[in-house]
Amino acid sequence: MKSVAFINSKFIKFNEAKIHIEDRGLQFADSVYEVIAVVNKSLLDLRFHLKRLRYSLKELEIKYKFTENQLSKIFKKLIEKNSVINGIVYLQITRGVQSREHAYKNNLIPTVIIYTKKKKFNLPNKNFKGVKVITHEDYRWARKDIKTTNLLPNILAEYKAYKKKAYSAILIKNNKITEGVHSNIWIVKNNTIKTHPSNTEILKGVTRSALILIIKKLNLKFFENSFTKNQLFDADEVFLTSSGSFVTPIIKIDSQLINNGKIGKVTFLLAKSYFKAF
Ligand code: PDD
Repeated sequence: MKSVAFINSKFIKFNEAKIHIEDRGLQFADSVYEVIAVVNKSLLDLRFHLKRLRYSLKELEIKYKFTENQLSKIFKKLIEKNSVINGIVYLQITRGVQSREHAYKNNLIPTVIIYTKKKKFNLPNKNFKGVKVITHEDYRWARKDIKTTNLLPNILAEYKAYKKKAYSAILIKNNKITEGVHSNIWIVKNNTIKTHPSNTEILKGVTRSALILIIKKLNLKFFENSFTKNQLFDADEVFLTSSGSFVTPIIKIDSQLINNGKIGKVTFLLAKSYFKAF
Protein backbone atom coordinates (compact mmCIF):
# COMPACT_ATOMS: atom_id res chain seq x y z
CA MET A 1 0.00 0.00 0.00
CA LYS A 2 1.27 3.50 -0.83
CA SER A 3 0.85 4.79 2.70
CA VAL A 4 3.11 7.84 2.75
CA ALA A 5 4.01 10.61 0.28
CA PHE A 6 6.30 13.61 0.60
CA ILE A 7 4.83 17.01 -0.31
CA ASN A 8 6.98 20.16 -0.15
CA SER A 9 8.73 19.63 3.17
CA LYS A 10 6.60 17.00 4.87
CA PHE A 11 5.87 13.31 4.93
CA ILE A 12 2.11 12.95 4.79
CA LYS A 13 -0.46 10.16 4.47
CA PHE A 14 -0.79 9.30 0.78
CA ASN A 15 -4.55 9.86 0.72
CA GLU A 16 -4.19 13.25 2.36
CA ALA A 17 -1.49 14.55 0.00
CA LYS A 18 -2.96 17.52 -1.92
CA ILE A 19 -1.77 20.39 -4.08
CA HIS A 20 -3.25 23.85 -4.74
CA ILE A 21 -5.77 24.25 -7.61
CA GLU A 22 -3.61 27.03 -9.06
CA ASP A 23 -0.45 24.99 -9.04
CA ARG A 24 1.15 25.56 -12.45
CA GLY A 25 1.96 21.88 -12.72
CA LEU A 26 -1.79 21.18 -12.74
CA GLN A 27 -2.84 24.11 -14.95
CA PHE A 28 -0.03 24.23 -17.51
CA ALA A 29 2.00 21.02 -17.07
CA ASP A 30 4.63 23.52 -15.94
CA SER A 31 6.72 20.91 -14.19
CA VAL A 32 9.44 18.31 -14.51
CA TYR A 33 9.69 14.76 -13.20
CA GLU A 34 11.86 11.70 -12.72
CA VAL A 35 11.04 8.02 -12.30
CA ILE A 36 13.77 6.12 -10.45
CA ALA A 37 13.78 2.33 -10.20
CA VAL A 38 14.07 0.68 -6.79
CA VAL A 39 15.58 -2.80 -6.87
CA ASN A 40 16.00 -4.71 -3.62
CA LYS A 41 15.33 -1.44 -1.74
CA SER A 42 18.19 0.33 -3.59
CA LEU A 43 17.85 3.29 -5.93
CA LEU A 44 19.17 2.56 -9.41
CA ASP A 45 21.38 5.16 -11.14
CA LEU A 46 20.31 7.89 -8.73
CA ARG A 47 23.15 10.21 -9.72
CA PHE A 48 22.21 10.09 -13.43
CA HIS A 49 18.56 10.85 -12.60
CA LEU A 50 19.46 13.83 -10.45
CA LYS A 51 21.81 15.14 -13.12
CA ARG A 52 18.97 15.01 -15.65
CA LEU A 53 16.63 16.62 -13.11
CA ARG A 54 19.05 19.55 -12.77
CA TYR A 55 19.17 19.83 -16.57
CA SER A 56 15.35 19.86 -16.90
CA LEU A 57 15.01 22.46 -14.13
CA LYS A 58 17.68 24.66 -15.68
CA GLU A 59 16.18 24.51 -19.18
CA LEU A 60 12.77 25.62 -17.81
CA GLU A 61 14.22 28.11 -15.29
CA ILE A 62 12.44 26.41 -12.40
CA LYS A 63 14.31 27.54 -9.32
CA TYR A 64 14.45 24.43 -7.19
CA LYS A 65 17.69 23.88 -5.33
CA PHE A 66 18.60 20.48 -3.93
CA THR A 67 21.51 18.31 -2.95
CA GLU A 68 21.81 14.64 -3.81
CA ASN A 69 22.06 13.85 -0.12
CA GLN A 70 18.87 15.73 0.74
CA LEU A 71 16.74 14.00 -1.91
CA SER A 72 18.23 10.57 -1.44
CA LYS A 73 17.41 10.75 2.30
CA ILE A 74 13.76 11.49 1.46
CA PHE A 75 13.64 8.71 -1.16
CA LYS A 76 15.13 6.18 1.27
CA LYS A 77 12.70 7.16 4.03
CA LEU A 78 9.75 6.71 1.67
CA ILE A 79 11.07 3.33 0.48
CA GLU A 80 11.28 2.25 4.09
CA LYS A 81 7.95 3.72 5.25
CA ASN A 82 6.13 2.17 2.27
CA SER A 83 7.97 -1.18 2.50
CA VAL A 84 9.08 -1.02 -1.13
CA ILE A 85 11.41 -3.83 -2.19
CA ASN A 86 11.02 -3.49 -5.97
CA GLY A 87 9.30 -0.50 -7.51
CA ILE A 88 9.81 3.12 -8.40
CA VAL A 89 10.20 6.52 -6.77
CA TYR A 90 8.23 9.23 -8.58
CA LEU A 91 9.46 12.80 -8.15
CA GLN A 92 7.75 15.86 -9.62
CA ILE A 93 8.80 19.48 -9.21
CA THR A 94 6.30 22.09 -10.39
CA ARG A 95 7.08 25.77 -10.88
CA GLY A 96 4.73 26.53 -7.98
CA VAL A 97 1.44 28.31 -7.29
CA GLN A 98 0.45 31.54 -9.04
CA SER A 99 -2.83 33.30 -9.88
CA ARG A 100 -3.59 31.92 -13.35
CA GLU A 101 -1.75 33.62 -16.19
CA HIS A 102 0.44 32.14 -18.89
CA ALA A 103 3.63 34.08 -18.13
CA TYR A 104 5.28 32.89 -14.95
CA LYS A 105 6.66 35.01 -12.14
CA ASN A 106 10.24 34.18 -11.36
CA ASN A 107 9.91 34.21 -7.57
CA LEU A 108 7.60 31.23 -7.14
CA ILE A 109 8.24 28.48 -4.61
CA PRO A 110 8.37 25.15 -6.46
CA THR A 111 6.03 22.37 -5.34
CA VAL A 112 7.73 19.07 -4.55
CA ILE A 113 5.82 15.80 -4.90
CA ILE A 114 7.47 12.47 -4.12
CA TYR A 115 5.93 9.06 -3.67
CA THR A 116 6.65 5.40 -4.32
CA LYS A 117 4.94 2.63 -6.24
CA LYS A 118 5.59 -1.10 -6.01
CA LYS A 119 6.34 -2.82 -9.29
CA LYS A 120 7.29 -6.21 -10.68
CA PHE A 121 10.03 -5.79 -13.26
CA ASN A 122 10.45 -7.76 -16.49
CA LEU A 123 13.74 -9.50 -15.73
CA PRO A 124 15.77 -11.90 -17.91
CA ASN A 125 14.83 -15.10 -16.09
CA LYS A 126 12.42 -17.86 -17.08
CA ASN A 127 9.50 -15.42 -17.00
CA PHE A 128 11.22 -12.87 -19.27
CA LYS A 129 8.58 -11.44 -21.56
CA GLY A 130 8.66 -9.96 -25.06
CA VAL A 131 5.98 -7.37 -25.76
CA LYS A 132 3.83 -6.18 -28.62
CA VAL A 133 3.84 -2.46 -29.52
CA ILE A 134 2.14 -0.26 -32.09
CA THR A 135 3.60 2.55 -34.22
CA HIS A 136 2.22 6.06 -33.89
CA GLU A 137 2.96 9.51 -35.23
CA ASP A 138 5.22 11.59 -32.98
CA TYR A 139 3.50 14.96 -32.64
CA ARG A 140 5.15 16.10 -29.42
CA TRP A 141 6.76 19.50 -28.92
CA ALA A 142 10.32 20.39 -29.98
CA ARG A 143 12.12 19.85 -26.63
CA LYS A 144 11.80 16.17 -25.91
CA ASP A 145 15.17 16.27 -24.14
CA ILE A 146 13.50 17.94 -21.13
CA LYS A 147 11.64 15.54 -18.86
CA THR A 148 8.45 17.56 -18.40
CA THR A 149 4.97 16.37 -17.43
CA ASN A 150 3.74 17.87 -20.71
CA LEU A 151 2.74 14.36 -21.84
CA LEU A 152 -0.62 14.66 -23.62
CA PRO A 153 0.61 13.32 -27.00
CA ASN A 154 2.29 10.44 -25.15
CA ILE A 155 -0.82 9.43 -23.24
CA LEU A 156 -3.04 9.63 -26.35
CA ALA A 157 -0.65 7.33 -28.22
CA GLU A 158 -0.41 5.01 -25.22
CA TYR A 159 -4.20 4.78 -25.00
CA LYS A 160 -4.32 3.65 -28.65
CA ALA A 161 -1.75 0.99 -27.77
CA TYR A 162 -3.79 -0.07 -24.76
CA LYS A 163 -6.93 -0.37 -26.92
CA LYS A 164 -4.96 -2.72 -29.20
CA LYS A 165 -3.76 -4.71 -26.18
CA ALA A 166 -0.20 -3.55 -26.88
CA TYR A 167 2.40 -2.67 -24.23
CA SER A 168 3.24 0.75 -25.64
CA ALA A 169 3.74 2.79 -28.82
CA ILE A 170 6.81 3.56 -30.90
CA LEU A 171 6.81 7.16 -32.13
CA ILE A 172 7.68 8.13 -35.69
CA LYS A 173 8.57 11.59 -36.97
CA ASN A 174 9.35 12.28 -40.66
CA ASN A 175 9.69 8.53 -41.20
CA LYS A 176 12.34 8.31 -38.45
CA ILE A 177 11.85 6.38 -35.22
CA THR A 178 12.40 8.79 -32.37
CA GLU A 179 11.61 6.81 -29.21
CA GLY A 180 8.81 5.08 -27.32
CA VAL A 181 6.00 6.80 -25.42
CA HIS A 182 7.95 6.19 -22.21
CA SER A 183 11.12 4.45 -23.37
CA ASN A 184 14.03 4.54 -25.81
CA ILE A 185 13.90 2.23 -28.83
CA TRP A 186 16.74 0.12 -30.19
CA ILE A 187 17.21 -2.18 -33.19
CA VAL A 188 19.71 -4.93 -33.92
CA LYS A 189 20.55 -5.77 -37.54
CA ASN A 190 23.39 -8.12 -38.49
CA ASN A 191 24.69 -7.86 -34.89
CA THR A 192 24.90 -4.06 -35.10
CA ILE A 193 22.91 -2.15 -32.48
CA LYS A 194 21.34 1.24 -33.17
CA THR A 195 19.37 3.82 -31.22
CA HIS A 196 18.41 7.43 -31.98
CA PRO A 197 21.14 10.00 -31.13
CA SER A 198 20.58 12.01 -27.97
CA ASN A 199 19.38 15.40 -29.15
CA THR A 200 16.19 17.44 -28.70
CA GLU A 201 14.14 14.73 -30.50
CA ILE A 202 14.37 12.25 -27.62
CA LEU A 203 14.79 11.99 -23.89
CA LYS A 204 18.31 10.88 -23.04
CA GLY A 205 17.30 7.84 -21.01
CA VAL A 206 19.26 6.93 -17.92
CA THR A 207 18.82 3.25 -18.85
CA ARG A 208 20.00 4.12 -22.38
CA SER A 209 23.20 5.73 -21.02
CA ALA A 210 23.89 2.78 -18.70
CA LEU A 211 23.31 0.28 -21.52
CA ILE A 212 25.65 2.13 -23.92
CA LEU A 213 28.44 1.68 -21.36
CA ILE A 214 27.65 -2.05 -21.17
CA ILE A 215 27.57 -2.39 -24.97
CA LYS A 216 30.99 -0.74 -25.16
CA LYS A 217 32.37 -3.07 -22.49
CA LEU A 218 31.02 -6.07 -24.40
CA ASN A 219 32.71 -4.76 -27.56
CA LEU A 220 29.50 -4.97 -29.61
CA LYS A 221 28.98 -2.90 -32.75
CA PHE A 222 26.93 0.14 -31.85
CA PHE A 223 25.88 3.42 -33.49
CA GLU A 224 23.85 6.33 -32.23
CA ASN A 225 22.03 6.60 -35.55
CA SER A 226 18.41 7.25 -36.34
CA PHE A 227 16.59 4.61 -38.39
CA THR A 228 13.48 4.53 -40.55
CA LYS A 229 10.19 2.69 -40.15
CA ASN A 230 11.34 0.21 -42.83
CA GLN A 231 14.56 -0.46 -40.93
CA LEU A 232 12.52 -0.99 -37.78
CA PHE A 233 10.34 -3.64 -39.40
CA ASP A 234 13.36 -5.19 -41.11
CA ALA A 235 15.39 -5.47 -37.89
CA ASP A 236 16.55 -8.83 -36.52
CA GLU A 237 15.68 -7.68 -33.02
CA VAL A 238 13.97 -4.70 -31.43
CA PHE A 239 13.87 -3.74 -27.77
CA LEU A 240 13.04 -0.81 -25.53
CA THR A 241 14.69 0.57 -22.40
CA SER A 242 13.45 2.62 -19.48
CA SER A 243 13.64 2.85 -15.70
CA GLY A 244 10.32 1.03 -15.45
CA SER A 245 10.95 -1.61 -18.12
CA PHE A 246 14.77 -2.01 -18.03
CA VAL A 247 15.62 -3.94 -21.25
CA THR A 248 12.35 -5.28 -22.66
CA PRO A 249 12.23 -7.25 -25.94
CA ILE A 250 9.74 -6.19 -28.60
CA ILE A 251 8.48 -9.24 -30.51
CA LYS A 252 5.58 -7.77 -32.46
CA ILE A 253 5.05 -4.33 -34.02
CA ASP A 254 1.57 -3.54 -35.34
CA SER A 255 0.68 -6.85 -37.02
CA GLN A 256 4.24 -7.95 -37.85
CA LEU A 257 6.31 -10.39 -35.80
CA ILE A 258 9.93 -9.48 -35.10
CA ASN A 259 12.41 -12.37 -34.97
CA ASN A 260 9.47 -14.77 -35.47
CA GLY A 261 7.95 -13.54 -32.24
CA LYS A 262 10.91 -14.72 -30.15
CA ILE A 263 13.28 -12.88 -27.85
CA GLY A 264 16.54 -12.28 -29.74
CA LYS A 265 20.01 -13.34 -28.59
CA VAL A 266 21.51 -9.84 -28.44
CA THR A 267 18.51 -8.49 -26.54
CA PHE A 268 18.77 -11.33 -24.03
CA LEU A 269 22.51 -10.79 -23.58
CA LEU A 270 22.00 -7.06 -23.00
CA ALA A 271 19.12 -7.61 -20.58
CA LYS A 272 21.24 -10.06 -18.60
CA SER A 273 24.30 -7.82 -18.62
CA TYR A 274 22.22 -4.83 -17.52
CA PHE A 275 20.66 -6.88 -14.72
CA LYS A 276 24.09 -8.10 -13.56
CA ALA A 277 25.35 -4.53 -13.37
CA PHE A 278 22.68 -3.55 -10.75
N1 PDD B 1 9.87 7.33 -18.87
N2 PDD B 1 11.85 8.42 -23.40
C1 PDD B 1 10.73 8.86 -22.79
C2 PDD B 1 9.79 9.72 -23.56
C3 PDD B 1 10.48 8.53 -21.44
O1 PDD B 1 9.38 9.02 -20.85
C4 PDD B 1 11.39 7.71 -20.75
C5 PDD B 1 11.17 7.34 -19.31
C6 PDD B 1 12.52 7.25 -21.43
C7 PDD B 1 13.56 6.38 -20.77
O2 PDD B 1 14.26 7.10 -19.79
P1 PDD B 1 14.90 6.39 -18.51
O3 PDD B 1 15.72 5.27 -19.01
O4 PDD B 1 15.67 7.46 -17.87
O5 PDD B 1 13.76 5.89 -17.65
C8 PDD B 1 12.73 7.64 -22.75
C9 PDD B 1 9.54 7.09 -17.48
C10 PDD B 1 9.97 5.76 -16.99
C11 PDD B 1 8.05 7.37 -17.30
O6 PDD B 1 7.59 8.36 -17.83
O7 PDD B 1 7.39 6.61 -16.57
